[in-house]
Amino acid sequence: MKHVIDPLDLSVEETEALLDLAGDMAENPAKYASVCAGKRLATLFYEPSTRTRLSFEAAMMNMGGTVIGFSSADNSSAAKGESVADTIRVISCYADICAMRHPKEGAPARAARYSRIPVINAGDGGHQHPTQTLTDLMTIRRRKGGFQGLTIGLCGDLKFGRTVHSLIRSLARYGGVRFVLISPEELRVPEYVIEEELKAKNLPYREVEDLESVIADLDILYMTRVQKERFFNEADYIRLKDSYILTGAKLRKAKPDMAVLHPLPRVNEIALEVDDDPRAAYFEQVQNGVYVRMALMMTLLGVKAC
Ligand code: NCD
Repeated sequence: MKHVIDPLDLSVEETEALLDLAGDMAENPAKYASVCAGKRLATLFYEPSTRTRLSFEAAMMNMGGTVIGFSSADNSSAAKGESVADTIRVISCYADICAMRHPKEGAPARAARYSRIPVINAGDGGHQHPTQTLTDLMTIRRRKGGFQGLTIGLCGDLKFGRTVHSLIRSLARYGGVRFVLISPEELRVPEYVIEEELKAKNLPYREVEDLESVIADLDILYMTRVQKERFFNEADYIRLKDSYILTGAKLRKAKPDMAVLHPLPRVNEIALEVDDDPRAAYFEQVQNGVYVRMALMMTLLGVKAC
């Protein structure tokens, strides 16, 4: 039995195979409409979510399976003090696979130790978010045909943004990728990510504070929200929350085929006028998120299309 807690739980070959399968699901949804008949997904969400939880649920329903779960710690037994270990032992009796989001880094990894069903990390604190990474990779691959030679700008809260950490971790395995890390001083990519992913693999990267001075170099611009819930101090959040706002005027300096990604939810980071620009790929990303989660669950459950 396999769990997906970290993006590196999937090798490059497994990742590519999942993206191929997700691409086929996008083109031939009818072929997969009942591959998970009789299978049940549990969504255990101890933290707010719209896209991740509902896309997992839609993905399972698209394959003919069923779904149970909770969408906040307050309406689960966590509110009574139950441990993640006990909860997953119980859920293992009710479902075939589970997706867990938790504010504590490492909680899904701990659950996996006690689980009898595959556990998928749907976001753990400021740590990792592997299925968002599959979504991002599918979107980049569809727009750019692959990853080789791309200059990828990551902009915003690179400290607390788990989607950023997972995307760097997965992409660092592809040769020829260069990163431009755009953030305020206080929200820079954590040192462990720089050391383990970028320096250890000798990947070219730059850390800058100004988006406009680098936007013309980018093939991908990955915008992120400042992660309010991870700040200790509200004054710091208020000071940093509007550090970057992508507007139509800034986009005029970018390459005509650059793609703008954002894991969403967006707060102020992307002006609404950008939504109509063909470079805006964030709603396409949402659609791809359903296909990659279908592909991942189908693969972890070991079911095949006829
Ligand atoms: C992201 C998350 O939860 O980390 N959202 C998502 O899953 N699409 C990004 C965010 O909350 O800013």
